[in-house]
Amino acid sequence: MDKLKITGGGPLEGEVHVSGAKNAALPILCAALLADRPLELTNVPELMDVRTMIRLLNQMGVRSSRDQPGSVRLDASGLANPVAPYELVRTMRASVLVLGPLIARCGKASVSLPGGCAIGQRPVDQHLKGLQAMGAEISIEHGYMNATAKRLRGTRIVMDMVTVTGTENLMMAAVLADGITILENAAREPEVVDLARCLVAMGAKIDGAGRDVIRIEGVSSLGGASYAVMPDRIETGTYLAAVAAAGGRVRLLDADPGTLDATLDKLRESGARISTSDRTIDIECSGRPRAVNLKTAPYPGFPTDMQAQFMSVSAVANGTSVISETIFENRFMHALELQRLGANISIQGNTAVVIGVERLQGAHVMATDLRASASLVIAGLVANGETVIDRIYHLDRGYESLEAKLSALGARVERVK
Ligand code: EPU
Repeated sequence: MDKLKITGGGPLEGEVHVSGAKNAALPILCAALLADRPLELTNVPELMDVRTMIRLLNQMGVRSSRDQPGSVRLDASGLANPVAPYELVRTMRASVLVLGPLIARCGKASVSLPGGCAIGQRPVDQHLKGLQAMGAEISIEHGYMNATAKRLRGTRIVMDMVTVTGTENLMMAAVLADGITILENAAREPEVVDLARCLVAMGAKIDGAGRDVIRIEGVSSLGGASYAVMPDRIETGTYLAAVAAAGGRVRLLDADPGTLDATLDKLRESGARISTSDRTIDIECSGRPRAVNLKTAPYPGFPTDMQAQFMSVSAVANGTSVISETIFENRFMHALELQRLGANISIQGNTAVVIGVERLQGAHVMATDLRASASLVIAGLVANGETVIDRIYHLDRGYESLEAKLSALGARVERVK
């Protein structure tokens, strides 16, 4: 299994290209299931999760081709097997995003329940509740969600909590439903908006994506489209956090600063000098960051997907930071690994108190999930000596060319087999 070896020390200097957003690309790939005409995508990141999703679509009968890096052409005219098997779903929870489109297009679907997860329980009850309200009959048998529906009916759905993939699944189901669907308490994440834009390009009628009430008027069929996936705001934030911790001067290219307000605010509070233009973000940091308190929340609040990376910044900050995680109940696994690097962190319930130390020390640590791994990379960059991170397949799921991008900034990062 691959490991990442990082020799800490030294500021980061240079430029990084931001990749397409994983969490926008995954639902958008599933949107291809809704049409019998090709969907041509660009700015699709080269990631394990993207490859897994394409494999999942392929085994349903979707034809795919990738002519050049970042482009994917999907043709679901031959969609024949509306099944998502456990072998694929268990490696990637986002597979559940095929459920809505499959019921809408095929009138039936069999999708494995995702099972356990390292960051929290993550049930899919809201996805099922919404689809049932639209007329789907769903039973759970042998670990699979088996759904049937002649044609889904538009209705009003109030979600119990803000759920990103829940909103996306129901939005994709509703675009082909009979009549109007109103999704209340919908997620406002930029990835939901990106999916809606792609669906509209395919001929869907959607109003209000990006607000907490989304109105979808069902159409009888969707067509093909060409669409460019939005920049990855979490990858962007991860590099920004790395600079906040390690110091230096970096320009991020092909970014979308408009999707990062809460993250940029916290970085400025920590002492980073940041300027933005339409597609670039410049960050400059010197000396230790200042401690900042933060609490994760649905968009436009501070993203849970940036919490681990900020814990690494806090670990070397001047002062004490209080970090509250309100989205997932078990998303502090990185804290124990950061302690192995000398961080001073105590956890009580969903709150972590981080007393910044002058310097971390390199050690052997283990990645537990995608963003936890990113936090360990940041910590490794500011630790004395060598840090070896085990189980980096988590990083390969969500960060394109991580070592190459960090090396271009002057970091000493090496993948060892
Ligand atoms: N929830 C339920 N029932 C549901 C759905 C969600 O109780 O039916 C709960 C979850 O357990 C959680 C909260 O609602 O406590 C929010 O979860 P949400 O459904 O929004 O998460 P998700 O859609 O499964 C996406 C991202 C995650 C990101 C979260 C929160 C994708 C593919 N994944 O997950 O990304 O952390 O939204 O913003 O979009 C990552 O990229 O590392 C990652 C984990």
